[in-house]
Amino acid sequence: MSHFPFITVAIDGGAASGKSSSSRTLSERFNLLHVDTGSFYRAITAEFLRRNVPATDLPAVQAVVAGLQLSTRVNGRSAMMAVGGSVVPEAEIRRREVNDHVSHFAAIPEVRTALLAYQRGQAGVARERGFRGLVMEGRDIGSVIFPDATFRFFLHADPLERARRRAREGGDDSIAERDRLDSSRKTAPLACPPGAISIDTTFLTLPEVVETMAAPIAAQLSR
Ligand code: CDP
Ligand code: CDP
Repeated sequence: MSHFPFITVAIDGGAASGKSSSSRTLSERFNLLHVDTGSFYRAITAEFLRRNVPATDLPAVQAVVAGLQLSTRVNGRSAMMAVGGSVVPEAEIRRREVNDHVSHFAAIPEVRTALLAYQRGQAGVARERGFRGLVMEGRDIGSVIFPDATFRFFLHADPLERARRRAREGGDDSIAERDRLDSSRKTAPLACPPGAISIDTTFLTLPEVVETMAAPIAAQLSR
C-alpha cells in the first residue's frame, strides 16, 4: 500500500491543444494512469458507425448505449476501453469518418451519461494497479467528471497553430468544426471551468507545457 496521497490531474482543451502529449509525459513522470477520454468517445462512435446508427436516430442510439459492455485493459500506463470485450484499434478510431461524426454523438446526453460512471471508475482501476494517481484528458474532466481533481488544467492555442500541428501529424481532421460543436453543445460543453489553470500553448514547446503543469504537481508531492 502506497503512503503517497492519490492524485487526480484533469486536462481539458480543444483539438491539438497538447492534451495527449502532455498527459503521456506526466503519466510517466509521476506514475499516473493515463486516461484519454477522447479515445472512448471515438470508440463508441466507431461502434455506432459499425451498426449504421446515425446520431439523429435517438431511439436507436439509446438502444445501443443500453447494451454497451465496457471494460478496461491497462497497457503500460494507458487505460484502454474495451467495447464488448475488444479494444477498437487505433487506426479505426482515428479515421476520417470517426473524426467527422464523433462530436455529433458526444453531444447526446445519453451517450455522455453512459460514459460518466465508467470514466469515474478509472480512479479505482488506477488504485488497484498501484498507480500514484491518474491523469485524465478530455473536454469535461475538470468540469463534470472530476470537478474536485487535485489539479485541473485547461489548454488552449490559436486555431491556426492547432490546425498546423494536426496537419504536421498527417491528420485528416476538421478540428475547427469539432471545436465549434464541442463548445456549443448544451451538455458538458468545452470550456475552461472556474478555478482551472488555463495555459495558452500557442507559443510554448511541448516540454514547456509539461513543465508548467509538472511544477505545481511536483511541489505538492514533495510536501
Ligand atoms: O485528440 P483530439 O483533441 O483531436 O480529440 P479527442 O480528445 O480524441 O476527442 C474526440 C472528440 O470526443 C471531441 O471532439 C469531443 O467531441 C469528444 N469528447 C468529449 O465530448 N468529451 C471528452 N471528455 C472527450 C472527448
Ligand atoms: O491531445 P491533443 O489533441 O490536445 O493534442 P496532442 O495530440 O497532444 O498534440 C497535437 C500535436 O501538436 C502533437 O504532434 C504535438 O507534438 C504538437 N504540439 C506542439 O507542437 N506544441 C505544443 N505546445 C503542444 C503540442
